[in-house]
Amino acid sequence: MSLAISHLSKRFGRQWAVHDLNLEVPNGVILGLLGPNGAGKTTTMRMLTGYLPPTEGEAWVAGQRVDADSVAWKSNLGYLSERNPLPDDLYVREYLAYTGRLYRLKENRRCVDRALSLTGLSHMASRKIAVLSKGYRQRVGLAAALIHSPKVLILDEPTNGLDPNQIAEIREVIRTVGSETTVLLSTHIMQEVEALCDSVAIIHSGALVAQGTTAEVLASGSEEAVVVGFATPVDKSRIEALVPGCRVLAQPSGEWLLQGYGGTPDSRALLVRICSERQLPLSSIYARHSRLEEVFHALTAGNGQPVQKNS
Ligand SMILES: Nc1ncnc2c1ncn2[C@@H]1O[C@H](COP(=O)(O)OP(=O)(O)OP(=O)(O)O)[C@@H](O)[C@H]1O
Ligand SMILES: [Mg+2]
Repeated sequence: MSLAISHLSKRFGRQWAVHDLNLEVPNGVILGLLGPNGAGKTTTMRMLTGYLPPTEGEAWVAGQRVDADSVAWKSNLGYLSERNPLPDDLYVREYLAYTGRLYRLKENRRCVDRALSLTGLSHMASRKIAVLSKGYRQRVGLAAALIHSPKVLILDEPTNGLDPNQIAEIREVIRTVGSETTVLLSTHIMQEVEALCDSVAIIHSGALVAQGTTAEVLASGSEEAVVVGFATPVDKSRIEALVPGCRVLAQPSGEWLLQGYGGTPDSRALLVRICSERQLPLSSIYARHSRLEEVFHALTAGNGQPVQKNS
């Protein structure tokens, strides 16, 4: 297990920002950490990277315990923080070489070249960081996070504030790196998770509310539904009579969403038969695939007040 989190908790005053978090991320998995603003994503990541001591619980990176009093585990961990602070006065190569020296890399120059090439920065190596666009600054942060080829990479909203082209390019870098590194990334973009992540963890008010492969989480949180189109116009009330107990909603395409109707092939075949018996031939019928956004809304609805606990 590359990354293991056990009963991890953080309290600020009386407020639990993270409460009893348990997670295991296997080698080579890209895990998307989702949650509304204030859910505890950054706090979790700060504890995993040793910036913030946990109030309770512990974490292991590549089998080594995250411990403020030791540095051994840090060689296995790379971190791109939410704010990505960079020294504006340094040149890109200079900054990466400096970062490499902090890790005491033996072949520092080769590592810098590799990080530059992985993040598409080779042509920017001799630019001053101060003149870089936001997307390129993000790449520098990413290059610094992976300069020592860590086994685990923690990225706090790596594509936040970037234009669509930059987002696609940064995702490509993460995908490439993620093929041999365990990545934990936080994001508010659901498509990012669907496009990039093998697994998802959703936290709400500091607690885990869903976890699994992206497909499992998608399947768990949403109601079954079927979309149908009729060959000729049909009143909503007639459709409601066909599928008692389901919500019938008109779709912009002219089709109808039957919410709560079973999405299995058998239940669809039954519906085709019923419709044909009632002289209402169908022009289309398919199971509606749930979207992560709906699952997210369902699981994180409410005011998201952080857990209060006396202790
Ligand atoms: N240093 C701190 N002192 C007091 N409270 C804090 C501190 N850091 C975070 N918090 C609180 O802990 C909770 C979790 O914050 P955190 O930054 O981890 O959320 P987040 O999920 O990263 O949110 P966002 O999506 O906005 O980045 C919030 O209620 C926040 O106000
Ligand atoms: Mg955050």
